[in-house]
Amino acid sequence: MGQIVFMTGASSGLGAALAPLLAADGDTVVLTARRAAALEEVAAKIRAEGHRAVALSLDVTDRDAVHAAVAKVEREVGPIDVMIANAGVGGITPITKFEASAVEAVFRANLFGPVYCFEAVLPQMIARRSGHLVGVASLAGYRGLPANGAYAGSKAALKVLMESLRIEAHQHGIDVTTIEPGFVKTPMTAKNKHPMPFIIDADEAARHMRKAIRDKASEYAFPWQLASIVKAGRVFPNSLYDRALAKQRAEKD
Ligand SMILES: NC(=O)c1ccc[n+]([C@@H]2O[C@H](COP(=O)([O-])OP(=O)(O)OC[C@H]3O[C@@H](n4cnc5c(N)ncnc54)[C@H](OP(=O)(O)O)[C@@H]3O)[C@@H](O)[C@H]2O)c1
Repeated sequence: MGQIVFMTGASSGLGAALAPLLAADGDTVVLTARRAAALEEVAAKIRAEGHRAVALSLDVTDRDAVHAAVAKVEREVGPIDVMIANAGVGGITPITKFEASAVEAVFRANLFGPVYCFEAVLPQMIARRSGHLVGVASLAGYRGLPANGAYAGSKAALKVLMESLRIEAHQHGIDVTTIEPGFVKTPMTAKNKHPMPFIIDADEAARHMRKAIRDKASEYAFPWQLASIVKAGRVFPNSLYDRALAKQRAEKD
């Protein structure tokens, strides 16, 4: 494709699986995350295949650092065509241990991380009348989830933020894609003890993500089985939804 792609959360899981696919298509991938050694490993593998990858250590919760990283890439690599805000954290926030600090930490990474990334590239994209913003939300962002309020809330906020940007973006020549994975086998889900229906591996998830990006889909949820159930769940009355989820939660405890 020959585009310059800036990706957050590229040191493991979905990002580490997606980056080689985009690089193999001919994109120059700028891989960012906090862990420099893990990032460099992903970048080295891509370069060993004869493709282009740059590794850049970055904490997406640091707004100044995000702006500085974007400026450095635009100076040294070129204009960023695609910004993929993929970095995110999990985290349990049960009602019995409900603390603002835990909720803030999740929102800082999952919502404000993407906000800083988009803020840093949007003026240049608007000036060039081209660009593509990609946000990795989640099927967890469709309705409330017990003990996961911060995570589900951050992804719901990201989903609606992306949609809001999308409506305006088209008149500036910019595409917006929201990706909504179900359960994927990555370090994030490795510690989960609860059932994860229709879980897929990171390589399969990365192929879905690549398709969503190449098609410039407005919204892309996968796998279809869980996506269908979650979307159908939106019309369940609260009384039914709450009872089903509370029962599931009780079984987990
Ligand atoms: N796995 C799933 O089932 C699933 C389902 C739906 C949505 N998602 C979403 O998919 C995205 C990727 O998750 P994953 O499953 O691949 O998890 P993962 O393997 O834990 O990867 C998370 C990535 O985000 C980076 N990251 C976390 N906090 C960061 C920060 N403050 N600054 C910069 N980078 C940060 C991590 O790198 P460093 O630690 O090196 O910084 C890592 O590269 C997340 O947004 C997640 O919410 C995952």
